[in-house]
Amino acid sequence: MNHNGLPERICCIGAGYVGGPTMAVIARKCPEIRVTVVDVDQDRVAAWNSERLPVYERGLDELVRETRGKNLFFSADVDAAIRQAQLIFICVNTPTKNYGQGQGKAADLVYVERCARRIAEQAERGTIVVEKSTVPVRTAEMIQTIMEQEDRDVQVLSNPEFMAEGTAIEDLNVPDRVLIGSADTPAGRAAAETLAGIYRTWVDPERIILTGIWSSELSKLSANAFLAQKISSINALSALCEATQADVTEVANAVGCDERIGPRFLRASVGFGGSCFKKDLLNLVYLCEHYGLSEVAAYWQSVLQLNEYQKTRFANQLVRSLFNTVTEKKIAIFGFAFKQGTNDVRESPAITVCRQLLTDRAWLGVYDPAVPEASVRQELSDVTGSAGGRLEVFSDPYDACDGSHALVILTEWNSFRDLDFRRIFASMHKPAVLFDGRNLLDIEEMRRLGFQVRGVGKV
Ligand code: UDX
Ligand code: ADP
Repeated sequence: MNHNGLPERICCIGAGYVGGPTMAVIARKCPEIRVTVVDVDQDRVAAWNSERLPVYERGLDELVRETRGKNLFFSADVDAAIRQAQLIFICVNTPTKNYGQGQGKAADLVYVERCARRIAEQAERGTIVVEKSTVPVRTAEMIQTIMEQEDRDVQVLSNPEFMAEGTAIEDLNVPDRVLIGSADTPAGRAAAETLAGIYRTWVDPERIILTGIWSSELSKLSANAFLAQKISSINALSALCEATQADVTEVANAVGCDERIGPRFLRASVGFGGSCFKKDLLNLVYLCEHYGLSEVAAYWQSVLQLNEYQKTRFANQLVRSLFNTVTEKKIAIFGFAFKQGTNDVRESPAITVCRQLLTDRAWLGVYDPAVPEASVRQELSDVTGSAGGRLEVFSDPYDACDGSHALVILTEWNSFRDLDFRRIFASMHKPAVLFDGRNLLDIEEMRRLGFQVRGVGKV
C-alpha cells in the first residue's frame, strides 16, 4: 500500500466492456496506482494496445491515450499481473448457461471459477479479490472457498458495476452510487475500506455504500430487474395505446411527471437488449425457483416474456404492412447495436427482428454507425448460412436504403435524425414503409415526405 493507504498495483481480469472502461477511469483518477488489465483473448489485448480499441464508448479513446503506458497496461500475461497485484478485479463474462443444470437461466460461472482458481494459485497472501462481473447471489462464497482450499488469506468483496454502455465514462466519473459488499468481519471491513479509498479519490463519500456481501450481489440483479420492468411496463402499454389510439409518448410524459415514477426509462421501443437485463432477470428467476418462490419467479419471468412479445409483435406488424409478405423484398435496417453509443450487439432486439425477416426470405441491407460487419454476420449466421445469404452490410446509410420497400429503425442513434429522408424516400420502392422501433423520428414530418410511417405505441 502507498502512503494514502491505496494499493500500488491493481489488476483486472477481463478486458471487456466493463473491465476496460472501468480500469481506464481508475487509472486516470489515481495516477499513483499501476493498473494492469489482462485477458486470455490475445487479439482483444492487442486491440486495447492499438489505435482501434475493441470497445466503442464516448470519451474512452481519449482516456486510454492519456493513461496507457503510464499507469494503465493491457497484457495477456494473466499470472504475472495476479502475482504483482494487491487488489484484483474479476471482470469476466457470466453468460446464461446453455447446457446442463440451470440451462437457459442460471449464469455460467465457469469463467469466474477459472479466475478464482488462477488467483488461488498465484496471488500473494493478503490480496483483495473484487467481483465486479454480475454474478448470482452467493458467488463470493464460492470464490472464498476456492481461496481457502489453497490456504490463501484473501478477502473477497462484491462491487457490482452500474454503468450503462454508451454513457460508461460519465457513469463511472459521476456514479449514482458505488456499492461495496464485504464479509462482516474486521478483515472484510478493512478490505472494503481499501477499495472505498480508491473510489473516494473522485466519488462523493456519501455515494459510497458499504453493505453485506449478499445484499450487494442481490442489489445488482434487483436494480437491473427494476429497470427492465419499467421498460416492459411502458412497452406493454404501447400495445394498448395502439389499440385505443392513445399516444405512448404522451402517456409516458404524464406518468413520468410523478416523482415517485420518474421520467427516465419510459421510452417505448422495439424491446430492450444488452448483456445484462435478460441475463440478470433469468438469474433472478432461477434464484427464486431455487428457493421455492414460484410466484416471485413468475412475476420477473413475465417482464422478459413481455420483451419477447414486443420484439415479435414489431416484426409481425412490419410484415403485415408489406401486404403480408417480405419474400424477396429488400428491407433497410438502421441500427444493429442494442442501444446507441455502443458497438455491442449482445441480445440486441435487431437480432430477433432481422432473424424473423430473413427466415421470411427478405433481403436485408443493414447500416449501423459503430457495429462492424463481422458482428452483424456472426449474429445472423444461423439464418443466412456461411455464404451470407440475403444479408448486406453497408457503411453508407443511403446505399442501405436504395431500392428497398421498407426502412426499419432498430437502434436509437441520434445521427439517424440528421439524414436526408427526402433523398431516402426517393430511392425507395413505393409505397415506402418506415417503421420506427425507437420513436426517433418526427412521424408527421416523415408522413409529409410521403412515407407510410409506424412508431411504437402510436396511431
Ligand atoms: C444496464 C443498466 O442500465 C446498468 O445500470 C447496468 O450496469 C447494466 O445494464 P445497459 O444494458 O448498458 O445498462 O443499457 P441501458 O441503458 O440500461 O439499456 C438497456 C436496453 O433498454 C437498451 O436496449 C435500450 O435501448 C433499452 N431502453 C432503455 C428502452 O427500450 N427504453 C428506455 O426507456 C431505456
Ligand atoms: P463484460 O461486458 O462483462 O465486460 P465481455 O465479454 O466484454 O463482458 O468481457 C469479458 C472478458 O473476459 C472477455 O474479453 C474474455 O476473454 C475475458 N475472460 C474470460 N475468462 C477469462 C479468464 N479466465 N482469464 C482472463 N480473461 C478472461
